[in-house]
Amino acid sequence: MATSSNPAGGHGDPTRRDFLMVATGALGGVGLAATAWPFINNLNPAADTLALASVEVNVAPIQVGQAITVKWRGKPVFIRHRTPEDIKAAESVPMSQLPDPQTDNSRVTDSAKKVRPEWLIMIGVCTHLGCVPLGNRPGQDKGPFNGWYCPCHGSAYDTSGRIRQGPAPKNLVVPDYLFLSDALVRIG
Ligand code: FES
Repeated sequence: MATSSNPAGGHGDPTRRDFLMVATGALGGVGLAATAWPFINNLNPAADTLALASVEVNVAPIQVGQAITVKWRGKPVFIRHRTPEDIKAAESVPMSQLPDPQTDNSRVTDSAKKVRPEWLIMIGVCTHLGCVPLGNRPGQDKGPFNGWYCPCHGSAYDTSGRIRQGPAPKNLVVPDYLFLSDALVRIG
């Protein structure tokens, strides 16, 4: 019945134990205040970031017409500060033209039911086979609907992130998010 791996010999002290020191951090459940940084092209998915349940983003630096990408739960999230033209284009599309009909309004409403048409927040993963669509960085091809374009198999999304053309079956996914103030949004 040898239960100890410590052959203490001589006087075996029954109170003696091997201890494993576990560093416990305060990572879980803590919202990371991620400063918005424009046009990220080298995301650094650190392990602690992957574990975060939510991320808070300061959107104040994002100018009209600009977009940023942040990492949330290991996925890229697109945040676009839409122009009035973007919004008008998105709102004017008849539902009959949409393979996955959703109003633009429904895609720019936060968890508190507050509608902010200027902010479009979506998971930047093509709903076909999971590529990251182009169009979130300056100079990238936004596709024929001026939204995002997936170069893998040619899916085109509009300025509301809705699928308009190509093999993707669904619109880009809008995650749960809440504006804590005009400048701060919590995703997740
Ligand atoms: S993964 Fe985007 S079109 Fe196939």
